[in-house]
Amino acid sequence: MSYVGKNEVEKSIIGRRSIKKFKTDPVDIDEVIELLNVAKWAPNHKLTQPWRFQLYSGAGKEKFVEAFLASQERDGTLPDKAKNKAAYFRDIPLHLVVIMPEDSRKKRWDEDYAAISAMVQNFQLAAWERGIGMIWRTNDWTHDPIFKDAIDVAPDEKIVGTLMIGYPAHIPDAENRKDIEEVLTIINE
Ligand SMILES: Cc1cc2nc3c(=O)[nH]c(=O)nc-3n(C[C@H](O)[C@H](O)[C@H](O)COP(=O)(O)O)c2cc1C
Repeated sequence: MSYVGKNEVEKSIIGRRSIKKFKTDPVDIDEVIELLNVAKWAPNHKLTQPWRFQLYSGAGKEKFVEAFLASQERDGTLPDKAKNKAAYFRDIPLHLVVIMPEDSRKKRWDEDYAAISAMVQNFQLAAWERGIGMIWRTNDWTHDPIFKDAIDVAPDEKIVGTLMIGYPAHIPDAENRKDIEEVLTIINE
């Protein structure tokens, strides 16, 4: 991967990575709000602004972790893997749950999901430019009614993802992308 971008926007798009290892340094909530106010300028057909958010910070993170653990219980016990994940989640400075309505109209649902995805990517890029990293998670438990119910997400709402946010302790290498020429058909006559 040799092309690194011609300007700051391109460099940020190419250079951003999903972060899994975070420093424990806190991330300022006002800064997250500011970044979300930037991200909301995503393209959005009909300006439905199909998003709401829950931000878990400090002691509040335990509610998020408890909801995760509730979804992991098997016959009244918690697998060690779930306990380890919970400990990992507790150490991450912020958890942002991104929620959209499950509109029954397919076209509207598609447009809403596209808009909120663009919004999330805006947020990731704007945060990256300030040195803040994150990972967008859609693990099975984020779809689990037990998890949703525990964090007051209604059945007619979708968790688009949970964004786990903090200052990167490790930035992984990029996984290569295929050349666009492989998937681009140019029709010019
Ligand atoms: C909609 C969506 C869902 C994702 N869900 C997960 C996830 O559940 N777990 C995970 O480790 N990464 C998840 N990711 C992050 C991708 O795995 C990551 O973007 C990909 O590996 C490329 O890495 P990069 O973002 O550093 O370029 C998700 C990304 C998107 C866009």
